[in-house]
Amino acid sequence: LPDGLAATPPMGFNNWNATGCAINEQMIRDTADLFVSTGLKDAGYRYVNIDDCWAEPQRDPRTGRYVAHHERFPSGIKAIADYVHAKGLKLGIYTSAGTQTCAKTMPGSLDHEDLDAQTFADWGVDYLKYDNCNNQGRAALERYTRMRDALKKTGRPIVYSLCEWGENKPWEWGRDVGHLWRTTGDITDTWTSMVGILEQNAPLAPYAGPGHWNDPDMLEVGNGGMTGREYRSHFSLWATMSAPLLIGSDLRKATPETLEILGNRDVIAVDQDSLGVQGTVLRKDDGHWVFVKPLAGGDVALTLFNQTENAATIGATASEFGLPKRPSYVVRDLWAHRDFESAGTFNASVPAHGTVMYRIKAGGDWWRQPPLGEYGL
Ligand code: GLA
Repeated sequence: LPDGLAATPPMGFNNWNATGCAINEQMIRDTADLFVSTGLKDAGYRYVNIDDCWAEPQRDPRTGRYVAHHERFPSGIKAIADYVHAKGLKLGIYTSAGTQTCAKTMPGSLDHEDLDAQTFADWGVDYLKYDNCNNQGRAALERYTRMRDALKKTGRPIVYSLCEWGENKPWEWGRDVGHLWRTTGDITDTWTSMVGILEQNAPLAPYAGPGHWNDPDMLEVGNGGMTGREYRSHFSLWATMSAPLLIGSDLRKATPETLEILGNRDVIAVDQDSLGVQGTVLRKDDGHWVFVKPLAGGDVALTLFNQTENAATIGATASEFGLPKRPSYVVRDLWAHRDFESAGTFNASVPAHGTVMYRIKAGGDWWRQPPLGEYGL
């Protein structure tokens, strides 16, 4: 949606990958506290989002409104929103464009869009993830548009995330409906799942831009199913693809390594770059990937990803992706946080399952020229 609410991909937290339905208000408060105390808020993380199972199974019989779950959210959602807002952060919530949500523990918003949007606005909600379960076979465009209009009517700025799993090609119509749309099924905390999602989301680059992002699902960094190196790749690839950066692990248990990955400001800057161009695949040879992501001011990010089980040299030359000729380029290694000069061949030795990210300073509007035009930019 072109309303300025998601000019860059949303950053924050969502509890689902860590807890499933076992959510409670203490975790939301603790996460807000940790955003501030660990520096993640300063690094750009803003939204603290509650996923499925936050409401009672029945609506209030008198008003028809949602009722917060008496054990999980005894203080009510408004009190949690107030708490999160007092920290300078924002609160997100979840429901489905169906009769029930996906976990089937609470009602969905189908045919209750106006009342529910108003309830969320009254509570001070800033972000809605709107799922696809139990939709009664009704068309996605109709269901998602209804909630868009209901949210708009409240007058409250609310980021609108379409969780439609890519089933009805939301990249083709989502731009005028929501701020982001899921492109795939659910991520799990495994290397295979992460790479599978990468393969589906990468070709959709031409559909993304400021206010309308592809969403390859929330981060698994810190949940324990991948190695540190694999989580660095996951984070690098999501940033390269201008994905929303929604932390999916319990920050109360975060190791220093998890915080270092999630807090890498050089990588976050690539995700949050104001140009808003999703990185594209320049080359993919036998599991050796080269991504190019143009950045504001003529910089470019080069992401070298080794999907294979063996170390490899991966790289590209300036002329291959149309960088203007310079006697030398200043390059920053975004994981080593080190600058060096290069004559125009950007190679790296990349370990198995690893990723090297470079930010190259070139200056100018070079990326508007071919050959990147061929990649849909
Ligand atoms: C769907 C969504 C997930 C999560 C669950 C909650 O599977 O894709 O991200 O919200 O529902 O039940």
